[in-house]
This record gives sequence, structure tokens and C-alpha cells, in this order.
Amino acid sequence: MLPLPDTTSADLLPLFERMGQESAERRMRLQVDHSATLFGAGRGTLHFENFHAVRITLEYVLEVSGLAGRARRNCADYRVEQVETTLANLPQTFDGYRIVQLSDLHTDALVDGGAGILSALKGLEYDLAVLTGDFRFATNDDYQPCLSAMAPLVKQLQNAPDGCYGILGNHDFLEFVPSLERLGVRMLLNEQVAIVRGSDALTLAGVDDPHFYGAHDLGRALGTTPDQTCTLLLAHSPEIIAEAESMGVALYLCGHTHGGQICLPGGFPILANASCSYRYLKGAWRFNSMHGYTSRGTGFSTAAARFFCPPEITLHTLKRAGQS
Ligand SMILES: [Fe+2]
Repeated sequence: MLPLPDTTSADLLPLFERMGQESAERRMRLQVDHSATLFGAGRGTLHFENFHAVRITLEYVLEVSGLAGRARRNCADYRVEQVETTLANLPQTFDGYRIVQLSDLHTDALVDGGAGILSALKGLEYDLAVLTGDFRFATNDDYQPCLSAMAPLVKQLQNAPDGCYGILGNHDFLEFVPSLERLGVRMLLNEQVAIVRGSDALTLAGVDDPHFYGAHDLGRALGTTPDQTCTLLLAHSPEIIAEAESMGVALYLCGHTHGGQICLPGGFPILANASCSYRYLKGAWRFNSMHGYTSRGTGFSTAAARFFCPPEITLHTLKRAGQS
């Protein structure tokens, strides 16, 4: 087990204030007590990501079946998914606004060290970059290798005129935040920022991980947003959809599910690691008036294996309703 964090450290106290004391205390308690357990907190009762026996068994089955090489190559078969979303309350000046989303990078385990992602990003143009959590492979390990692997990706993403924003996932610790921010990722810890174009603005809000830590605070993240503002929300998993829609979110971007990662032909997931309906496990969806998108993930977890579920880099284009 990792040593107890120093909750009075100068690095952590400002983060507590940013995310809210109650959410911060909950996260810190769980980081120490339960992050390596199979059962426990969060919306699901079983957390496959912490089940080392699954990884060992899966790697063994792939090896003896001769599928290990294919499974591994599939993990670097990055697809750029172009997604257009029409929003009723998008300000005119944001019509055509482009957001690149990377999710579930698990960067320290990428089979190509991130070279394929970097190459794909260099061919894209976007106004804003968002990272929807799970930077690290393990749930409770040293995160320095992850940071080293993140550096070139963040450097590239900083070409976005409106910057690079991120949220924490269930594989990330709060202690990660100062280092990520020094790299150039502005983390949203139950916070929001305004993306401004002249006299128009979008609200970009982000919450802490709802899946395992349950440290999300939508009220805090969205609290000061005027009703008519077009609000985009970053949340690690698609497990707080109903709450977000009821609070007026226009577009909900998330990941965590990896789209199933190992799927049947046709892309049907064998296992789901999120407590939500099947229709929210990957791709574009709607919940009443709210639009949403669940990334299949850019990296992988548990083992280097993907079938019928390629990793993705998502390029969102926002369109204003009524514009042709
Ligand atoms: Fe996750």
C-alpha cells in the first residue's frame, strides 16, 4: 500500500479548496483505503481495472491462442472519429468550433509510447483540447512514468488556441494535478471556465471521477452558470447523465468504458465497467435535451488487447441549430 498522503502539504491544500473540502476528503480517503480493491466504492460493485487475476488470465489466453500479437497491434490502430453535434443554444461565434478529445490514455502503457497519437494530432486542427481522465495505467502506482509519457502529447495539444483542459479518472490521484498543470493541462476539479469569443462565451465545466471516487460535485462545477449559457461538461464516466441533464448541460463528454475494449464482431462489448445503460457505453448519444459522447478510449487498461473496438482520437465539431 502507498504511504498515507500528507493532506496538509502546500501542494494539496489549494486543490482541496478548488474541488471542495467534502469531495476532496472523500477522494483522499478512498485513494489510500480502497484504490487497489476489487469491490467497494463507486457506482459499480466490481472494478475490473483492479482485478490483477483478469489481466494474468487474459494475457495467458491470448498467448496460447496465438492472438496476443494481433491484440497488441490493435491497441495502436488509432482512429480519428469526426463527430458533429448540433446544439440549440450554441452562440453564433462558436458555430464550427472544434474540440479534440483524448480519453483513458493510460499513457505509461501505450504500446507505441504515444507515437501514433502524436502523429494523428499533428494532422488535425482544433480550437480546444480535452482529456477525460485516466492518465495512468495502474490505479495506485508511481505516476512519474505516466507524466514523462504525457509531456510530448501535452506539448502538441497546447497548440489549441483555447488550451488544454483535463479531469481526473479512477486511475488518477489528486497528487497528480500539480504536475499535470505544470505540463500545461488545466485541470477542472469540480470547476468551470469560460471560453470567450468576443461578447459570446461557452462554459466548460469538469467534475472529479464519478465512477470509483464519487468525488464529483456537479453543483459546484455548474453552480454559477446562467441558465441560457451553453455548457459543456467533462466527466470521466457516463454515470451521472441524468443529474447533468437536469442541471442544463448541453454536451457531456466522457470515456472510462473503453467501449468494452474486447468486443464481439460488430463491436458488442463482452463486459461493461460502468453502471449505465448499454446505449451510453460508446459513441454519440442523447439523454432528453442533452447530447453526449462516450469515447472508446485512446489507450487500454488491464491488458494490451483490443478486438473489434479500435482506440480513438475524437474530433468534435459544434454546430449551431438552424445553421446550414
Ligand atoms: Fe476509468
